[in-house]
Amino acid sequence: MTGAVKVLFVTTEIAPFSKVGGLGDVAGSLPKALRQAGVDVRVVTPAWPGVLDKVAAAGLKTTILPQHVCAAYNWEIREAAVIRTEVDGVPIYFLRAEDYNGDMYPPQLNFWSASPFAVFCMQALELHRAIDWTPDIYHCHDWTSAFLPCALAWHRHYRQKGGRSVMTLHNVAYQGVFEPDPFMLASGLEPWCFSPSTMEFYGQVNLLKGGIVAATAVTTVSPTYASEIQTYESTRELSGVIYQQRHKLRGILNGIDTVYWNPERDPMIPERYSLKKMSGKDLCREELLRKSGFDVKTQDPIVVCVSRLVEQKGFHLVLEAMDVLPTLGAKFVFLGSGHDWLEDGLTQAAAAHPDCIKFFKGYDEPLSHLLYAGGNIFLMPSVFEPCGLSQMISMRYGTIPVVREVGGLRDTVTDADSPGGGDGFTFLTCDRDGMLWALSRAIERCRNGAAWQQIVSRAMQQDFTWNRSAGLYKALYQEMTA
Ligand code: ADP
Ligand code: GLC
Repeated sequence: MTGAVKVLFVTTEIAPFSKVGGLGDVAGSLPKALRQAGVDVRVVTPAWPGVLDKVAAAGLKTTILPQHVCAAYNWEIREAAVIRTEVDGVPIYFLRAEDYNGDMYPPQLNFWSASPFAVFCMQALELHRAIDWTPDIYHCHDWTSAFLPCALAWHRHYRQKGGRSVMTLHNVAYQGVFEPDPFMLASGLEPWCFSPSTMEFYGQVNLLKGGIVAATAVTTVSPTYASEIQTYESTRELSGVIYQQRHKLRGILNGIDTVYWNPERDPMIPERYSLKKMSGKDLCREELLRKSGFDVKTQDPIVVCVSRLVEQKGFHLVLEAMDVLPTLGAKFVFLGSGHDWLEDGLTQAAAAHPDCIKFFKGYDEPLSHLLYAGGNIFLMPSVFEPCGLSQMISMRYGTIPVVREVGGLRDTVTDADSPGGGDGFTFLTCDRDGMLWALSRAIERCRNGAAWQQIVSRAMQQDFTWNRSAGLYKALYQEMTA
C-alpha cells in the first residue's frame, strides 16, 4: 500500500478474540473496511489470557517477531513479545507480557490495576522498532488507550516525535480515574502534566480527559452522541472539557460486520433466511421458544434483549415494568450479564412467570445469534447509548427494535408511526410508561401481519455496512496528514 496513510489502531478489545462489548466489534470490523478504502491500517492489542488460544483455534497462522517491545515504566523495563497474525488482510500484533496476565478490565482502578493500560500505550508507541513500519497516526479507543495521546503530547521522550493521534470515544461514562500518586512519577510524566489543563480532574488522574485534551482529533460513534456529550450528565462532569475541545470533535456513526452478521449465511442459527425467503426465521423462532421452555405453538410475539446488564442499558425500567410485561401477550427472552441487582431481578421475574419470561444469565455468542434470529422485537431502552450495535444487528435479522430516542439509537432507528413510516418503535421519556407505550405499539403491530412485514422489510434493507463511515475516517486521516 505505497503512499497510503498509515494508521495503528490501539485497542484493548478485538472481536472475535477478546470482545467484551461493542468496542470489540468495532475494532474487529472497522480496520477491514479501512483497508478496503485504501488506508494502511494495522492493529495492536494485548494478548489477554486465552486470547492466543482463540487465535490458534481459528486456524490463523502466527509469527513471533524476533524483537520485543520495551517501555520504561516505574523504574523498570517492561517488555512484551510481539505475535503477528493477519485477519482478512489486516495485520494484528498481539503483545504478550506479564502485564496482561490478569483480568481484562479490573473492577477497581488504582495505580496497580491501571498500570497495564499505561504500559500497553507506551509499548504501542515502541512497536515501530519491532515491525519496521511507523504509523502516521495512532488511533486510540476509550480510556484504556487514552494514555497514548497524553504520552505523545506531554512525555519528555515521546513528545519530540511529533506524532498525531485520534481519540475515539465509545463511552464517556468510563474514564480511567484513580489517585495520581505514584502514577505520575512512574509513568515518566513531569509534575506539570497533572494540572487542570492536562489530565487532572477533581484531584484525580482522569485518563480519558487527558486523551481528549491531548489528541490531535477526537471522534465519537454517532452524530447525536457527539452533541449530547457536550451537555449531557452521562459524561460524569466531563461535558465541560468536551465542549471546550469541540472544535476537534466529530461524530461518525458505527457500522457492523455485515458478513459476520448475516441471516443468509450465519452458521450459528438453526435455519438461514433472507428478506426474499423468510420461512427460516419461523424455524429460528420455534427453536428459541423450545430452548426457552415456552409453548412452541404460541402466536405471541417474542421480545428479546441481548445486553450487558448495567445502568446505561435501562434495565431498571424493565424491572419496574415486571408487573405489566406478563399482561402484554408476548414472550420475553433476556440474555445478559452484569450487575448482581439486575441479574437477580431478572432471575426472580423469570421464576415468577416461567410461561412468558426467560432469562439466560451470562455471555453467550452463539445464543445471541439465536435471539437475534428467532425474536420478533428487540428491546433496548437505554438511558444513554453512544451508538449501539445490537439494534443494527437485530434489524439485519428482521427483529424490530424498540429503543429510547437517544444517542446512536436516535440516528439508526425511525419510528414506524412517523410520517413516511419507519423501521422500529421509539420513545423519548426515560421512564417505565414511555417504554411500555413503545413496546405495546410494537407488540400490537406485530400481531397484524401485513403492516409488520413492511416494517421488517425496511429494517432488513437498511445499509449498516462500514462503507460510508470508513470514508469519513479516511477523510479525517487525510486532513490530519495533509
Ligand atoms: P455495548 O458496547 O455498550 O455493550 P453495543 O450494542 O454497542 O453495546 O454492543 C454490544 C455487543 O455485545 C453486541 O455485539 C452484542 O450482541 C454483544 N453482547 C452483549 N451482551 C452479550 C451477551 N450476554 N452475550 C453475547 N453477546 C453479547
Ligand atoms: C460502547 C457503547 C456502545 C457503542 C460501542 C461501540 O460500548 O456503549 O453504544 O456501540 O461502544 O462503539
